[in-house]
Amino acid sequence: MKERLYLSPPHMGGSELALVSQAFASNYIAPLGPMVDAFEKAFAETVDRPYALAVNSGTAAMHLALRSLGVGPGDEVFASTLTFIGSVSPIVFQGARPVFIDADIETWNMDPDLLEKALESAYRQDRLPKAVVPTDLYGQCADMDRIGAVCRRFGVPVIADSAEALGATYKNSPAGAGSFAAVYSFNGNKIITSSGGGMLVSANRDFIEQARCLSQQARDPVPHYEHSKIGYNYRMSNIVAAIGLAQLGCLKSRVARKREIYAYYQRALGDLPGIGFMPEAPYGQSNRWLTVITVEPGVFGAGREDIRLALESENIESRPVWKPMHMQPVFRKSAAPATVGSPGIQARQVGGWVSEILFERGLCLPSGTAMTLREMDRVIAIVRDVHRGHIKKEA
Ligand SMILES: Cc1ncc(COP(=O)(O)O)c(C=O)c1O
Repeated sequence: MKERLYLSPPHMGGSELALVSQAFASNYIAPLGPMVDAFEKAFAETVDRPYALAVNSGTAAMHLALRSLGVGPGDEVFASTLTFIGSVSPIVFQGARPVFIDADIETWNMDPDLLEKALESAYRQDRLPKAVVPTDLYGQCADMDRIGAVCRRFGVPVIADSAEALGATYKNSPAGAGSFAAVYSFNGNKIITSSGGGMLVSANRDFIEQARCLSQQARDPVPHYEHSKIGYNYRMSNIVAAIGLAQLGCLKSRVARKREIYAYYQRALGDLPGIGFMPEAPYGQSNRWLTVITVEPGVFGAGREDIRLALESENIESRPVWKPMHMQPVFRKSAAPATVGSPGIQARQVGGWVSEILFERGLCLPSGTAMTLREMDRVIAIVRDVHRGHIKKEA
């Protein structure tokens, strides 16, 4: 069996071990320490925000953001339906209800027109959401000017989920810009990884300091352990921060490589009938975290699942586009209380067909930055074989 080709495995740059050794030598092994401070500082500069808080996951960063905004039971939070669960589970942690907004076909991100309609309707019913959480999908920024303008009109803060988009730009500003706060992830499959971790950034110092306090068990500033509220153990360790700091130095080259990978696939597969590629919005530059294709079965002759299985049989990992949140069994539309036959958390949806089609047709191809040309050619040959197989069957 050939060696497994993964979707987006970690890619160390070379200086990680030296910084980890430095952290060992200083004996700052436990949470916090100089590497965490340095990582927060370097990260804040990278995304052009004054304040940053390093935590142990992107999900934790989103949870702290929502809690610090005061999201609580009975509140609603509007979020992208086409996203990963880590973007929306913190809404549920807070006892609030998500409202899932569909994607725009041009960008695959939260549709600003649908959002506007949903906010107008919520305003009329006197139930404005506590926050709006648009995801920057697969490394492409949501249309933040439009989303921000609509949200400002109604006084609702935006928390950008830029977990997948570090290194991308929106109108020459870093991913997450224009939001009240933004969240990033350093999970193992992300464009850079710390082996696991996340970052919360904002221009609001009090907000970040409150989140910082909550991330360390909400300890009051007295010599003994005293707590006036309940917090979490979400801080990043000094060792993990050393890896993250070293990886941050590779970010530019990783974005360039991800974009080359996308361009290579596009050149090699773009002529196949029924194959499309995730579009790039004219307002920015995607980091092309994953190269995503769409497969129109009636034209290509096979579906995205046929391609996925063909790749899998050759030990190559690929993955369907995120299953929209409004289709997840954990969420239900009914306002009736959960029962054994109808479990789940109540969640409204606004639109949905765009993300449903993208889920049905979309496939993420292996996009690791350490991937060789030969490995990409393996993927390409299999996709072409699936198409040829269909032509033969028809003949
Ligand atoms: C869009 C999105 N949001 C949130 C997360 C959660 O990040 P983490 O895995 O670091 O908790 C991820 C990825 O993992 C993600 O892709």
